[in-house]
Amino acid sequence: MESIDKLIKNLNQNQKEAVLNTEGPNLVVAGAGSGKTRVLTTKLAYIINQKKAWPNQILCVTFTNKAAKEMQNRVLSYVGGNSSSVPWLGTFHSISVKFLRRHAEAIGLKSNFTILDTDDQKKLIRKICEAEDIDAKKISPMFIISIIDKWKNRGLLPTDIKEGKSNSLEKSILKIYSIYQKKFRILMLLILEILYFIALNFLKIIKI
Ligand SMILES: Nc1ncnc2c1ncn2[C@@H]1O[C@H](COP(=O)(O)OP(=O)(O)OP(=O)(O)O)[C@@H](O)[C@H]1O
Ligand SMILES: [Mg+2]
Repeated sequence: MESIDKLIKNLNQNQKEAVLNTEGPNLVVAGAGSGKTRVLTTKLAYIINQKKAWPNQILCVTFTNKAAKEMQNRVLSYVGGNSSSVPWLGTFHSISVKFLRRHAEAIGLKSNFTILDTDDQKKLIRKICEAEDIDAKKISPMFIISIIDKWKNRGLLPTDIKEGKSNSLEKSILKIYSIYQKKFRILMLLILEILYFIALNFLKIIKI
């Protein structure tokens, strides 16, 4: 564990400015390998050391797992403690999952919900087609998912869609959508792609 004074002393002038300015937003634009991550990790260590915020009040989001791990390791080497020293440091996805598991009941799920990727979704659609005697070779699961997504994006639940003018293909897909939607509740599933949109909207709603 290094002392915070030593960490700050090892920064150049621009880095120091970015670390010490903890009031209001900061945008750091710099080339590859020029010390951006060092700014962020030292800033985290500084904020924690100066008790400007508790570690669990800091949200630190990265795009990749690699970056999150690197940040976590560097912060740990600065502030000590274990891997949960900065509990809300992670990728968009991991933070969203963690957050939604904590508040799952607010979106009608239990905290042990399962996350589906596109392959899992296709498997689920194929299973429904089999059970309903719909030939999944004739209508590809990906096509079915795209139609269901279109309905979902327009906020249409299966019960909102009028069968009246639909052709038989649409009727089959609607039937699949209805079963698919029920299974989501029963199996407690969430689609990977929409995970962080739900988390972000949820944050907006509860105004955290
Ligand atoms: N002021 C400094 N003095 C000496 N070494 C530094 C300084 N700032 C950063 N470094 C070192 O330079 C290397 C690159 O720094 P860092 O990883 O923070 O850069 P980065 O801009 O995040 O890089 P990337 O673009 O790859 O993400 C690291 O080994 C880091 O310890
Ligand atoms: Mg970096």
